Amino acid sequence: MKLDTRVFPDITSLSRAALEEIMRILPDAVAKRGRFSIALAGGHTPAKLYALWAENYKTQTPWSQVHLFFGDERFVPEDDLLSNYRMARETLIDQVPIPAENVHPMLTDFPSAEKAAEAYEVELRRFFVDDAPPAFDVQLLGLGIEGHTASLFPDSPALAENQKWVEAVTAPAEPPQRLTLTPVVLNQGHNTFFLVAGGDKRNILSALRIEPDNQPSKFPAGQIRPSGRVLWYLDQAAAS
Ligand code: 6PG
Repeated sequence: MKLDTRVFPDITSLSRAALEEIMRILPDAVAKRGRFSIALAGGHTPAKLYALWAENYKTQTPWSQVHLFFGDERFVPEDDLLSNYRMARETLIDQVPIPAENVHPMLTDFPSAEKAAEAYEVELRRFFVDDAPPAFDVQLLGLGIEGHTASLFPDSPALAENQKWVEAVTAPAEPPQRLTLTPVVLNQGHNTFFLVAGGDKRNILSALRIEPDNQPSKFPAGQIRPSGRVLWYLDQAAAS
C-alpha cells in the first residue's frame, strides 16, 4: 500500500512538523466552519505533539474555536494512569486556556463501556448536528505493532460496524475494555495524521507498505481510507 510518508530524525521533529500542519489547517477550518475539530490519539506517541502545542502555540491558537475530541479511550477512571484523557489533560488541556465546553472526552463514569460508547455518540451528534457521520478537520491516529489504530484491533467486529459511530470493544491489550470511533467516522476525516515513532513499528510499517493497493488491508490501520488527506509522520527509527 502506498503511504504518503514524512520522515523526521526523531519524535520531537515529527511532532513539530505535524503540529505545524495542524496550525496551517486550523484557520481555514475556522473560516469555513466557524470552528476547528480534532480527534486526539491516545497512547504515548502523541504526548510530545500535545506538549509542543501547549508550549509553542498557546497564544496563536484561537482556543474558543477549537474543539478537542478523542479517537478512543480506555474504559478506566479519568484519573487512571492509563486514561488517554488524563494524558491529554496533563500535556495539553490543563496547560492552555481552552473553554471546558470545548473539550469532549469519552467519559467513562458509566456502568458499562457500552453505555459510555452510546453517550459519546450522543455527544458527537449534539456537536455535529448533522445526521451524517462527522468529519473531523484533523484526526490523529497511532499505530500498534500488530496494525491496530485507535482501539480497532485486528479481527475486531468493530471493523465491520457500518452504523455506530462509537463502539465498546474488548482489546487484546491492557486494559481490555475500550471505546473507539468506528471506521464509519474515521473514514470521513478531512485530514488524518498517523504519528508513528520507534523501531518497534518498523515491521508493521513494512507489512502495510507491501500490501497491494487493490485489496483491503489485513490491518485496521490500513482499513482507514478516508477521502481526505492521509499523512504518515514517521521518525527515522520507524521508517528505516
Ligand atoms: C491507545 C491508542 C492506540 C495507540 C497505539 C500506539 O489508546 O492506546 O489509541 O491506538 O495509538 O497503540 O501507541 P503508542 O503511541 O503508545 O505506541
